[in-house]
Amino acid sequence: MKRFLDLADFERDEVLSLLELARRLEKQPEPRALAGRILGLVFFNPSLRTLASFQAAMARLGGNSFVITPGAGSWQVETRPGVVMDGAAAEHVREGIPALAAYCDALGIRAFAAGKDLASDLAETAFNAMASLIDKPLINLESAVNHPCQALADWKTLDDLAVPRAGRFVLSWAYHPRALPLAVPAAALHMAALRGMEVIVLRPQGFALPDAIMERARRAAAASGGSLRETAEREDALAGAEVLYVKEWGATECYGDSEADARLRSRLTGWCVRDDWFTIASSECRLMHCLPVRRNTAIADAVLDGARSVVQREAYNRLPVQMAVLHRMLKP
Ligand code: CP
Repeated sequence: MKRFLDLADFERDEVLSLLELARRLEKQPEPRALAGRILGLVFFNPSLRTLASFQAAMARLGGNSFVITPGAGSWQVETRPGVVMDGAAAEHVREGIPALAAYCDALGIRAFAAGKDLASDLAETAFNAMASLIDKPLINLESAVNHPCQALADWKTLDDLAVPRAGRFVLSWAYHPRALPLAVPAAALHMAALRGMEVIVLRPQGFALPDAIMERARRAAAASGGSLRETAEREDALAGAEVLYVKEWGATECYGDSEADARLRSRLTGWCVRDDWFTIASSECRLMHCLPVRRNTAIADAVLDGARSVVQREAYNRLPVQMAVLHRMLKP
């Protein structure tokens, strides 16, 4: 495996094989598997789980890693093509990314959406421009509209909890004071569709996921025996739900217009997940969120701290699934 950029690049059986490897490495650690191998990690945006779990995964497999956070201990790096670099950035990705790739056996890059032009973000313009600069194995640590490592960990979490393959998976929008990227909702949607679940996107008017993301997930659902639809009605979505996957994202109706987005979301503070959201769900219904999460803004304390919440298992699962990705990518 040369690149791990998007779960959609893999057949369902290939994802299942990676999950099998993750479970095997959990039970039978291989502390020398990647001895002498080096992973470079470039974070244009903050992280807690992705950063720590990739470093831990490399160390548990006997390898090493280095971390670059442009502008914090290293040069500020320009990503835009063709700009006159007379501002804060001292280095361009065109020089910086190949230099970093030369020091390691695989590179991971986190570069969030610019959040201004939906078409450009959907096309992964910035991430793909960096990816085209190197020939080394590459991992997407979260790009404009994708977070495959989170999606793989979430799939393992569903399997760990024996959530039925055909169970109802509700991806629900939740309130946040500002517009957040589409990466996690898009990746979670695709994961659940590819797993073969009955997927429902629950979101207020103005926050529908882009057609390109929905269509791609619809094709994955059709190929895996699942289904996909969307609604703005909570009761319609949550009746009998096995999973409530909560995520905050920006208004797609006015993408890139922060004032219009703020006007829309200011009326939606009631989209904070509370215990009463689960009254018509399955008694086993799980609460998922990729973290970080704002308590009592997106999800109430009682829900996050309650028995339904599996957010810590999702966070833990980042480690074994990323060990599996690294093992498949780098083991001699
Ligand atoms: N879920 C996730 O990717 O967490 P971080 O942003 O902390 O890495």
